[in-house]
Amino acid sequence: MELFGLDIGGSGIKGAPVDVGTGELLSERVRVGTPQPATPGAIVESALEVLAACGWEGPVGCGFPAVVKDGVVRTAANVDESNVGFDLQDALERETRHPVRVINDADAAGLAEMRWGAGRGEKGVVLMLTLGTGIGTALFTGGRLVPNTELGHIEIAGYDAEMRASDGARKREKLGWKKWSRRLEEYIRHIEDLLWPDLIIIGGGVSKKFEKFMAHVDVRTRVVPARMHNAAGIAGAALAASEVLSPADDGGSGSDPAPPPGRRRPRRAPP
Ligand code: BGC
Repeated sequence: MELFGLDIGGSGIKGAPVDVGTGELLSERVRVGTPQPATPGAIVESALEVLAACGWEGPVGCGFPAVVKDGVVRTAANVDESNVGFDLQDALERETRHPVRVINDADAAGLAEMRWGAGRGEKGVVLMLTLGTGIGTALFTGGRLVPNTELGHIEIAGYDAEMRASDGARKREKLGWKKWSRRLEEYIRHIEDLLWPDLIIIGGGVSKKFEKFMAHVDVRTRVVPARMHNAAGIAGAALAASEVLSPADDGGSGSDPAPPPGRRRPRRAPP
């Protein structure tokens, strides 16, 4: 099945059609800058631009950098406050006239890594950390997601953890790898004591430099880099949408007729 994955972030909104059987992006990602301020109306408009640039007509999965319950944005750590309470899923459904599923961005990336990447086949407690502007977390047990964990916001030394240990903090404070890895180690040790995970997957752009910082991080849990890099958020969002459209055997009938696949119109140049 082919579905569209959208990954809304603090600095960019990215999207591509995805083969949800393989996790493959079926064309180059299209990216537009996240409007500033990132208000609900402006975000929806930019998301529609990405869909139009890809000529997509069909169901959409979308990751958003906040707690999302039933399509409604519930927090706003790295987006405009006015998003709190906004039913992004409903707004996108009305605009596109197609089914849309909106979930937390780290949950989307985690779903993709568990299905096609570093977490494939892992049955224990797996925690995906996305290290970007903030720290996103996705928690899995027995391969199932516990949605909307916000473990990037645990308090360490009196601070919100993501203010000290995210990649955003490293850049903002111009920290060297060694100094930043101390903070990451402190963060992971806190998490380990709370959750005792079997595996930690590190995602986010900085995961490409995994060896550079993990060489200095001494923790008891097995820690591995994400494998799907910047495709994870897009592919995982599409996967989440596909699970709603054709529910798995543990939730839905499993024998529902397949939904009509998405169609692509001739591609237009990104605006
Ligand atoms: C937000 C999370 C999000 C993460 C990564 C955090 O500040 O609270 O919901 O997943 O950033 O974008």
